Amino acid sequence: MNDQELDSREAALAMVAREAGELARHLFLDRDRLAVTMKGAQDYLTAADTAVEKFVVDRLASLCPGDAVLGEEGGRHGSGEAIWVIDPIDGTENFAHGIGHFCVSIAFVTGREVRLGALAAPMYGELYLARRGRGATLNGRPMRVSATAEMARSVIELGWSARRPAAAYTKLVERVLATGATFRRVGSGALGLAYVADGRTEAYCELHINSWDALAGILLIEEAGGWVNDFLAGDGLMQGNEIIAATPRIRDALVAATSIGKGTMGDARTN
Ligand code: IPD
Repeated sequence: MNDQELDSREAALAMVAREAGELARHLFLDRDRLAVTMKGAQDYLTAADTAVEKFVVDRLASLCPGDAVLGEEGGRHGSGEAIWVIDPIDGTENFAHGIGHFCVSIAFVTGREVRLGALAAPMYGELYLARRGRGATLNGRPMRVSATAEMARSVIELGWSARRPAAAYTKLVERVLATGATFRRVGSGALGLAYVADGRTEAYCELHINSWDALAGILLIEEAGGWVNDFLAGDGLMQGNEIIAATPRIRDALVAATSIGKGTMGDARTN
């Protein structure tokens, strides 16, 4: 894909992410009227997830016809190696409980490379954007990961889902606390990754996360000078993967403590 083709997709992405964030904000403020169902244990689906995904898919189809899409709710459509990966509401559990910590996450991938990423966190008025090789911004301001080198000063978000055993999660918490770091779990993996990119926290780890939750945030971190394991290793796009994302200064200590990323260090990189 040449620069011009990527330029037009970058412009489309910024516009669609902003619009989708606005739609999510309106739906959140009017959430008493929205149906909420369960996809599984502690796995929520609101009518907003479906509505925002349809909006994003339709907008991208008209702005970038021919590109494939993979949505959390609607699955994969289209073929070819250029694909948009969409989480309409990341942090659905928060959304369903009236907590505004959620975002729309959209990534553009060619082959095994995330080229563009956007997160809109409408209740905070935040739009995060990244393009591979050209940096990451929050509302137009360049982002940089934290310079903290000590675990005892580090804040690490540990994502959780029922897709992995509870005992594996509590063990992870223990291992991280044993390093002297503290941990948090705020319920949006995408925003958790964006916070690493913006230097608000030092790392994000999860035993399994889906590509729609993670890909935009991964690019934000890499473009902000952070490090992420090779998430797309194996069939990460369709099956998800483990994730460990950190500032370069605490990466080795964190990998040693958690063992996450040992099998997917591969060709991981930072910029
Ligand atoms: C979930 C959130 C959560 C993460 C889970 C995801 P959803 O996505 O990002 O923080 O720990 O792995 O499934 O259901 O809110 O889109």
